[in-house]
Amino acid sequence: MTMTLAFDVYGTLVDPMGMSRLLAEDAGDRAEGVAALWREKQLEFSFRKGLMKVYEDFGVCTRQALRYAMATHKLTLSEERENALMAAYLSLPAFEDALPALKSLRGEYPLFAFSNGGYPALEKVLGHNDLLDQFEGLVSVDDIKSFKPDPAVYTYARRATGSWEKPLCLVSSNAWDVIGARAAGLLAIWVQRDPNKVFEDWGIQPSAVINSLSELQETLKNL
Ligand code: LAC
Repeated sequence: MTMTLAFDVYGTLVDPMGMSRLLAEDAGDRAEGVAALWREKQLEFSFRKGLMKVYEDFGVCTRQALRYAMATHKLTLSEERENALMAAYLSLPAFEDALPALKSLRGEYPLFAFSNGGYPALEKVLGHNDLLDQFEGLVSVDDIKSFKPDPAVYTYARRATGSWEKPLCLVSSNAWDVIGARAAGLLAIWVQRDPNKVFEDWGIQPSAVINSLSELQETLKNL
């Protein structure tokens, strides 16, 4: 099927849990817990700001969530260290399967990165991992000042990628993102990176499920 592919970024192409190694300096053996709570709250804050219609850049959600996660674990962070961690967020590591998958799909499908992140952050984190050049373009929610999973964001992605006549397929390891995209009429493939991760049963199914981006090309042929 001819279609355009829109890749989610955080959790799908780059790994937010990559921060736990750096957080070890601040949180010791609680680093993984802090990193997980940081990610969870970053998403929750973006969802809430979207619902409340008080949009702020995703980086603001990230910083506020870092403060929350540290405070919850009764840990403190100097301003300098907070800034250093925020800077490191711009060079999160890519998942190993990301670059090879994008390279092999590039000639076959128009590829876009589609994220809650703002453009400067996306350019940095994707550029740092050599992923940026694989894309025809980036689509940030910043253009319409709302966040996934607002249906307006997915509709906007169709417009921004020129996908009115042909399907737009989201590729995301975030189940909430896949459900949001399917509910808005997109195709959406769930990347179940962790076999223990459960897909929320909302009666809205992914178009396909893969365990790694290396399975994507073959799966797309049968979609
Ligand atoms: C993204 C995050 C929120 O949209 O997963 O890239």
